[in-house]
Amino acid sequence: MLAFKNGRPYEKHYLKDANDNVSSVLNFYSRQGTNDLNKLGLRDLFDTPKPVKLIKFLINIVTDGNALVLDFFAGSGTTAQAVYELNKENKQNNKYVLIQQYENIPLTSKTHQKCKELNIEPNIPSIMIKRINTYLEKNKQPLDYTVVEI
Ligand SMILES: C[S@@+](CC[C@H](N)C(=O)[O-])C[C@H]1O[C@@H](n2cnc3c(N)ncnc32)[C@H](O)[C@@H]1O
Repeated sequence: MLAFKNGRPYEKHYLKDANDNVSSVLNFYSRQGTNDLNKLGLRDLFDTPKPVKLIKFLINIVTDGNALVLDFFAGSGTTAQAVYELNKENKQNNKYVLIQQYENIPLTSKTHQKCKELNIEPNIPSIMIKRINTYLEKNKQPLDYTVVEI
């Protein structure tokens, strides 16, 4: 069906009308990414984290459990957590490469304040590493990655 939003036409498809088994990414609740970070005690550390469940779903579609997952825009490092969770839950052996440009956090932001509280550098790569370390420590897993600065 056609729907209009702000004067623009959009095609609207309802999940209930879909006649295949493919899940819609719309089933994933976008605020869940923030909840995932909150659960690690990292509230306010990153504005737009993706849901771990969504990334696990996407990885699962294309891997046989032995994949190398590349995330060129790693942000808070959701992809690393997704890979660790999949490996643990399904006894898989996926690996990841996360790339994140060196980007400073603005001085006046709540994220900058949070970085100070956590005693980490106010930049995105530090946030990413903090998230991965926190996840691994919480789950009593070894810090098994290497950081390469270029
Ligand atoms: C929307 S965020 C990714 C969020 C991530 N999926 C998560 O769950 O946290 C996009 C990230 O891409 C990074 N980025 C943008 N341009 C880039 C580039 N050319 N190279 C590497 N990273 C880049 C930004 O710094 C930002 O942190």
